[in-house]
Amino acid sequence: MPSLVRFGVSIEKPLSDRFDRHIHGKKYSNRSEAIRDLIRAELVREEWKAGGDVAGAVTLVYDHHKRDLVSRLTDLQHDFMSVILSSQHIHIDHHHCLEIIAVRGPAAKIQELADRLKAEKGVQHGTLSVTRAG
Ligand code: NI
Repeated sequence: MPSLVRFGVSIEKPLSDRFDRHIHGKKYSNRSEAIRDLIRAELVREEWKAGGDVAGAVTLVYDHHKRDLVSRLTDLQHDFMSVILSSQHIHIDHHHCLEIIAVRGPAAKIQELADRLKAEKGVQHGTLSVTRAG
C-alpha cells in the first residue's frame, strides 16, 4: 500500500457545511474518503479530455418487444467490438432487459458507443461509468 500524505485544507464555513451534508448524503464515513473520490473523479475527467484510455461499463435498460431494437443494439455492438470486452444480458421482467457491457479503450470511442446505444429508440435508461485504464 502506498504511503499516506496528510495535508490541511482551508475552506469557507458555508462551503464546508454544504460538503458535509453532501458526504453525509452519499454515506461516506469521513471527509478524507470523499475528497479522495473527488480527486479520482477529476483525474478521470482529465484523462477523458486528454483522450486517454478508460475502462468501465455501459448499462442499458430496454423493452425487448420494441421493433428491431435487439438487432439494432447487436449491430451497434458489432461495430464497436474493438472496445467491448464482454456483455451480460439479464431478463428483468416480461418486457424489460438489463444489459451490462464492459468496455475498454479510447475515451472518445467509448463515449460515442454509449451515446449511440442510449439514443436507440426503446432504450429507457442508459449510463456510462468509467475509470482510468491502467
Ligand atoms: Ni431479456
